[in-house]
Amino acid sequence: MSTFDRVLPEISIIFRKHAENVKRMAPMIVNRDLNGRVRLIVAETWQEDAAALTALDAITREMHDRLDPHAFAPDRAVLFEEKIDAMIAGAPHFPLDGVKDVSVIDRLATEGNWSSIVPETKGIPRTVFFSIKGGVGRSTALAASAWALAERGKRVLVLDLDLESPGLSSSLLPDERRPTFGIVDWLVEDLVENGDAVFDEMAATSTLSHDGEIYVVPAHGADPGEYVAKLGRAWMPKVANDGRRESWSQRLQRLLDALQARWTPDVVLIDSRAGIDEVASACVTDLGANLILLCAIDGDQTWSGYRILFRHWRTTGVVRDIRERLQLVGAMIPDVDGAAYFDGLRERSWNVFAEELYDEVAAGELAVGTTWSFDESDEGAPHYPWPIRWHRGFAALRSLHDRIESVDAREVEAIFGPVVEGVLDLMCGDGEANHA
Ligand SMILES: Nc1ncnc2c1ncn2[C@@H]1O[C@H](COP(=O)(O)OP(=O)(O)OP(=O)(O)O)[C@@H](O)[C@H]1O
Ligand SMILES: [Mg+2]
Repeated sequence: MSTFDRVLPEISIIFRKHAENVKRMAPMIVNRDLNGRVRLIVAETWQEDAAALTALDAITREMHDRLDPHAFAPDRAVLFEEKIDAMIAGAPHFPLDGVKDVSVIDRLATEGNWSSIVPETKGIPRTVFFSIKGGVGRSTALAASAWALAERGKRVLVLDLDLESPGLSSSLLPDERRPTFGIVDWLVEDLVENGDAVFDEMAATSTLSHDGEIYVVPAHGADPGEYVAKLGRAWMPKVANDGRRESWSQRLQRLLDALQARWTPDVVLIDSRAGIDEVASACVTDLGANLILLCAIDGDQTWSGYRILFRHWRTTGVVRDIRERLQLVGAMIPDVDGAAYFDGLRERSWNVFAEELYDEVAAGELAVGTTWSFDESDEGAPHYPWPIRWHRGFAALRSLHDRIESVDAREVEAIFGPVVEGVLDLMCGDGEANHA
């Protein structure tokens, strides 16, 4: 009996054994269905080719022998497809490890697959605040950064995409300033071509900004209304009259483009959901973010979580498309023994980045040319935490709004400065990732 994790490595072994025939029939697809069962999809032309059919029979028999119950029976394990290239282009896919021109199409029950990475946006820079675990101070860091950037005269657009537990906007907006609608309202109205009815009333400006401007787009409006019923529909893909399908994350991209055009910000800050979650996947991989902040407190759960995510990017062959935009943020660095804590955080961060994301550099060699690797002590490296200090003034807050108004500006800068500087750097650059 085989189990899920054996499927792709075994297929890779079988395909390499039949390399000549696989090469001849390429491009091919390994389709892993919703139940985790695999079959092959090959071009229709091979249906008339006796040698190809013999090879396919041998391959699918081996797959069945080695992968049962995760492979279809040989007589049902091959589909012939007229337009194989179009099929590959039309679905999320990744290369089968070690085999040229064979793609894996992985059908998931959720749309968030974490591995279709939208290239960096070339326009207004977008920063996503993500964390693998919740409650680490992600939203607070975002709100404080928005404030600090506005203090420097920037126009900041802030989106609360932590739709299942919204809260960011209340930290930037007092109740009486909340807009009538929020992101979830637009997502459901858009399904019935009615997005315009809410679009102009889903952002409000924060009173916290003195020089610049903070436009806050909350998850829901002043009156959440039937929030649960709306949220249950927000993830819906949209099928247009001409049959074209638009995934919900593509709808979200369209909304973000429209919000940018409407409010012309200098920078966009996005509060993602925590964890390996469908909405978080849209924020991290689908919105063309230029900078993805990985907020972390030191602990085994943090590192095993990031390792799972990084390894997924490696397995699915997309790690190069995303790794240069990542930056670790050390959240809530304790005020007692902070230096020792920071060193431990940096060391464990480096372990995970070096093993899962950085290119390997042979012992004694220097990282040169196209090698993407960093020393543990390299302050400019993505694993090197941008620190945010724990500060009593921000612990157990009822209202960040009041706190920011009352805390000394220099104090906010001292706590959140490294993140603010990082976002400013990104804005000064040409939109490319700061580690490129
Ligand atoms: N730098 C800090 N120092 C001390 N306390 C902080 C700091 N940042 C945030 N906090 C406090 O930690 C708690 C969690 O913060 P916050 O809501 O920002 O976390 P989060 O990561 O966004 O959580 P969630 O995953 O639930 O959205 C809050 O009570 C907040 O006031
Ligand atoms: Mg939060």
